[in-house]
Amino acid sequence: MKISSLLKAAGLITLLASGASASAAEASLSNHKILIAYFSFPLPQDVDATTSASRLEVHGKTYGSVEYVADIIAKNTGADLFKIETVQQYPIDEYDHLTDFAHEEAENDARPALKNTIDNFDDYDTVFVGYPIWWYKMPMALYTFFDTYDFSGKTIIPFSTHGGSRWSGTTREIERLEPNAKFLDGYSIYRSLTPYDPEDIKNWLKDINIVK
Ligand SMILES: Cc1cc2nc3c(=O)[nH]c(=O)nc-3n(C[C@H](O)[C@H](O)[C@H](O)COP(=O)(O)O)c2cc1C
Repeated sequence: MKISSLLKAAGLITLLASGASASAAEASLSNHKILIAYFSFPLPQDVDATTSASRLEVHGKTYGSVEYVADIIAKNTGADLFKIETVQQYPIDEYDHLTDFAHEEAENDARPALKNTIDNFDDYDTVFVGYPIWWYKMPMALYTFFDTYDFSGKTIIPFSTHGGSRWSGTTREIERLEPNAKFLDGYSIYRSLTPYDPEDIKNWLKDINIVK
């Protein structure tokens, strides 16, 4: 049995069946302009070992796990990549400092300012949106992101990595934030299993008719 089948059987890779899904036929690669916007926060090498699962070393390159999935999507689709980054620096000296900071941000329903803007956002009709689960929700930078851009009429395809909480209701939250967008089935994967099967990511892209 392939590892992807095993993981699916274990429920660690989940495909989202969105009630608001656009028909798969609407998303053929050739006539769509696709963006991959993602937030990823791999911790530095010297921060305690228990966090290393969210940092991947693949062929000598270090990735955050969301970044790794984004990279595979880009390789398979030729889509443009945009990294969602905040103006503020998150504390990275200790894992607990980062989680405490992120927890306070979530409690305060913060909207951290974003560092960069997507000037040609209107050009894209299909947007993959990637994020890790932070405190059972999207990092608050994603809320700023969805506040900033109007997704009316665009197709959103969520993808996420997590440490056990799976989607944590985040796809429903995106549908709430962007009621005028269309949705295709998303992809969620447990962080430390991410590098093992790029083919599984490709199969998902085939399933939603983004690649042939
Ligand atoms: C601040 C913070 C909060 C987190 N909260 C959760 C959580 O609530 N549930 C969960 O499953 N994983 C949680 N994680 C683990 C991340 O979702 C996981 O490591 C993810 O793969 C990180 O992706 P990245 O390396 O691309 O940033 C948290 C990680 C951080 C840093």
